[in-house]
Amino acid sequence: MVLNGQAHGKLLLFGEHAVVHGFPALGLTLPLRTQVCLSPDSDIPLNGPDHASLVARLVPYMGPGALHLWRSQTWHVRVDSNVPMGCGLGSSAALTGALARAVAHGMTEKRPESIRRMAHQAERHFHGRPSGVDTALALGEGLVTFHRIDAAVLKTEPCTIGPFAMVVGTLPRTHSTRDMVNHIQDQLASNRDTTLARLSRLGSLAVLPDVTESAWTLLGDRANEAHTLLRSLGVSTPALDRALSIGRAAGACGGKLSGAGGGGAFVLFCKDVTCARQVELAVTQSSECHTHTYQWDGQGLVTTGDKTS
Ligand code: PMV
Repeated sequence: MVLNGQAHGKLLLFGEHAVVHGFPALGLTLPLRTQVCLSPDSDIPLNGPDHASLVARLVPYMGPGALHLWRSQTWHVRVDSNVPMGCGLGSSAALTGALARAVAHGMTEKRPESIRRMAHQAERHFHGRPSGVDTALALGEGLVTFHRIDAAVLKTEPCTIGPFAMVVGTLPRTHSTRDMVNHIQDQLASNRDTTLARLSRLGSLAVLPDVTESAWTLLGDRANEAHTLLRSLGVSTPALDRALSIGRAAGACGGKLSGAGGGGAFVLFCKDVTCARQVELAVTQSSECHTHTYQWDGQGLVTTGDKTS
């Protein structure tokens, strides 16, 4: 039997790092996709290296059922993805989510919560303390607020907000998610009260009021404040700060890094697509980044002509 699964990339709008320590976050599933195919046939058309050794390292995290299935025969693995690797747009969660879905096809236990648990456990291969938001967004749809109920449970709530546009960019990463998560942990150990106050405020910024008009203003103001806090926590870089300044000067209402930081993803909120295109042009002309403009119409993401530089 051939087992297929797919999952998505994600964008954290607010609450990165804060959510690891129990505070809320706001994230969006992106129309970027990773597909995993496990096949018993050696003539599976590979688009690159056989990813079997990577999958062999991930499956043991997923529990005895998944491991039993994996060991029951020789599997050939194909991974197709358009999620940029290691940039803060959820490539590892998209991979573990797609793998969990593929594996679940070969198991009797297929409930969504079991698939999510398998994906989340496998995400631990990439960093030790995943909050679960990346895998939830990889396997879910839409714009959702996350509230941590306890160590094991993240409650999700759909977020209602009016139209806005945004430029999502990625810069080369100088540090991994694991490094950045450990960096915050070190700060908590050395400067607990200030660090907790910053994380708490980052979490508060993730809980949006129902705003239908001029949502971009609220998002821009909050993004600027969030980025200042993330900078003070030491997870931004000069290249990220520079790209954000250029984007703001070109007309964005505000912007911030997205994900763990140390380079990687950023988001600039704009009034509309026309403004976002100007911002995109200014940012790409002056830095080594890849960008994409997205438009939120109040209910979902709409395609914008799909220019990816
Ligand atoms: O790995 P990234 O860059 O997508 O960031 C994950 C977001 C963090 O809050 C830093 C970690 C987590 O598990 O939530």
